[in-house]
Amino acid sequence: MKKTVRAHTNIALIKYWGKADQAMRLPAMSSISMTLDEFYTDTKISDSEKDRFILNGTEQTGKSAQRVFSYLRFLQERFGLSGHLQVESTNHVPTAAGLASSSSAFAALAGAFSSYYDLQINRQELSCLARMGSGSACRSVFGGFAMWQKGNSDLTSYAYAINEQPEMDLHLLAVELNPNPKELSSTNGMQLAKTSPFFQPWLERNQAEIDKMIEAIEQNDFTALGQLAELNANEMHAVNLTAQPGFTYFEPDTIRAIKLVEQLRREGIECYYTIDAGPNVKVMTRLKNVKEITKRFISEFDNVKIVNASFGPGIKYLD
Ligand code: DP6
Repeated sequence: MKKTVRAHTNIALIKYWGKADQAMRLPAMSSISMTLDEFYTDTKISDSEKDRFILNGTEQTGKSAQRVFSYLRFLQERFGLSGHLQVESTNHVPTAAGLASSSSAFAALAGAFSSYYDLQINRQELSCLARMGSGSACRSVFGGFAMWQKGNSDLTSYAYAINEQPEMDLHLLAVELNPNPKELSSTNGMQLAKTSPFFQPWLERNQAEIDKMIEAIEQNDFTALGQLAELNANEMHAVNLTAQPGFTYFEPDTIRAIKLVEQLRREGIECYYTIDAGPNVKVMTRLKNVKEITKRFISEFDNVKIVNASFGPGIKYLD
């Protein structure tokens, strides 16, 4: 059996940034995300004489292939399966987006694995499997707004849909300021973040922030959602700055972009930013402001690339 599975990337509005259990990829906090229509990964698995990972038509070797193969071994062991597999993936996550593709990549891989072996598992179980590939991937099983409840064991740590077809007028402009790969992976960055004296107090705020975000989503309150997502992102980056040793993903252009968002707000153009484990900035706004904000970023930054995204669907089985 050979089925292509499509999973979209997601952007966290309440971040996952710290693990309670490294080996099981159990998060230290719950998180909430928006699945994005513009960016996705298509993956299919087939039989093979040896393990192969082909990404965008090119055979991969080295670290990225090893991560895929060891994930597949883990899944096979879990289900008492064995044998070599070929993974073919196409990433529709333009580097211009400045978005990590691991959420869509591991959600699509988990989906392709379950489809190849006809595992007959539900989306909750699939979300647990995707989590073991990359934490944020467990949320990409669902469309619209998804919540990853941290849980305290493999079977209780999964994502579910808050609303797969939201009516909120919400656009996310992925602003690429710097195309270079990040120096510190999310996996390592979030480990280091735990050494910050602010990490524990931040954790203590997690449940209240989750509740507030769910309320903003349910009330269709863009302002509350944007303010809280921006605050939560700043908390994550404050924790990084105060880790021991401190570090930051910000580049000078990241600060300039933050200041531009603040300036636009002063002018009455409502928008908020969120920033992940890299220097690029994502701006949340309403459709009516997309053009003006795009224009302003293009006039302020040389070589900036901007992609306008909105809500994307959950995992799909294509053929
Ligand atoms: C900043 O899911 O890439 O994007 O579980 O170690 O693979 P691993 O981490 P990963 O981390 C994502 C971090 C983030 C925030 C988020 O997506 O919640």
